[in-house]
Amino acid sequence: MQATKLGLTSIRTDGDKIEIVNQLLLPHSTEFIEIKSIEDAHEAIKSMKIRGAPAIASLAALAFAAELERGVKASADFLASPEAVKAYVKPILAYLYTARPTAVNLGAATRRLTATLDASLEAGKDASAICADLIAEAHKVADEDVGRNKKMSQWGGDWLVDVVKQNGGSGSGLNVLTVCNTGSLATSGYGTALGLITYLHETGKLASAYYTQTTPYHQGSRLTALELQKLEIPSVIICDTMVGSLFQHHDIHAVVVGADRIARNGDTANKIGTYNAAVIAARHKIPFIVVAPISTVDLAVADGSGIPIEHRPPIEACLVRGAIHPPPPNGGPGASTQAVVMITPPGLDLAKGVYNPSFDVTPAELITAIVTEKGVATRRPGEVVFDLSGVV
Ligand code: MRU
Repeated sequence: MQATKLGLTSIRTDGDKIEIVNQLLLPHSTEFIEIKSIEDAHEAIKSMKIRGAPAIASLAALAFAAELERGVKASADFLASPEAVKAYVKPILAYLYTARPTAVNLGAATRRLTATLDASLEAGKDASAICADLIAEAHKVADEDVGRNKKMSQWGGDWLVDVVKQNGGSGSGLNVLTVCNTGSLATSGYGTALGLITYLHETGKLASAYYTQTTPYHQGSRLTALELQKLEIPSVIICDTMVGSLFQHHDIHAVVVGADRIARNGDTANKIGTYNAAVIAARHKIPFIVVAPISTVDLAVADGSGIPIEHRPPIEACLVRGAIHPPPPNGGPGASTQAVVMITPPGLDLAKGVYNPSFDVTPAELITAIVTEKGVATRRPGEVVFDLSGVV
């Protein structure tokens, strides 16, 4: 097994200083932005300077911890009593939860911190001890992500190799398609679906990763392309419209995607375009695998119809972001000049003339396996839904 190459970082911390890489500017410039407040974190998540379900949960948790740490250092008023801590903390958690609606990891993180608050209050702890518990729990939310990503990547990778072998293949030379960006930029490190692809590469099983551009935000062409390049994983970009053609003309062994929310029956919300890929994969009998941490499974939602789908501002479907092309020779001044280019005609009715859901729901019956850090769930023969009890 090759050593894991250093992936990109979405968040870096130094004491209570938090910085995120502005993903709106990647891959042409790498700029870190300091997150100095809860409002900064909320804005960065809402405007997609940081995105990816686990990464936004990690940032929310770290910003929350830093806010409490600053308060403790300054002997803030909320340290007056346990009730004062509660009155201070609850609105912050509620506010962070409103930043983006579909990725349940953010809600799972804020619910987990609320549960810590309630447990510490019930245990009769004083204000400082309650804050210490909350800060520790918030750091855990961010820190535990990398380890579980590696676990699920291994579960899913080994499972896929076995399936390919059972179907008469050698289990190596695998070609895998992914959608969106699910690597270290979307998580605290290693990634979910892109983690599985990385694992296949590290174990010598991967021939090539294919990835869709993922319009309109281009998480594929801007972020996954950069991650695969840094990891030196052989890869091929395709436009979102080329999935069918790819399956018709190339031997693709699996489609592997992340998730923003998985309902109790296995219906899965993920980046817009995932459903299209699943439908075409089913037609071609290509395994379709969802890789996501347990915190992405929302047992309170029975099926996909209950998953809230975020619609992004219409203007975002009319723009592309990138750098001026061709760049000046020899990487001279302006080589990474950013451009945001309008691709629709002036006068297009933004209020009525644009459909821009950020996610779609892939029904469970199109999903072959759901992988979490606990293992791999598959549907029983003849069943169209999942029993996720073994993997949550
Ligand atoms: O809108 P985004 O870029 O936050 O959407 C990201 C995705 O849909 C990812 O596939 C999902 O969050 C899983 S990231 C490990």
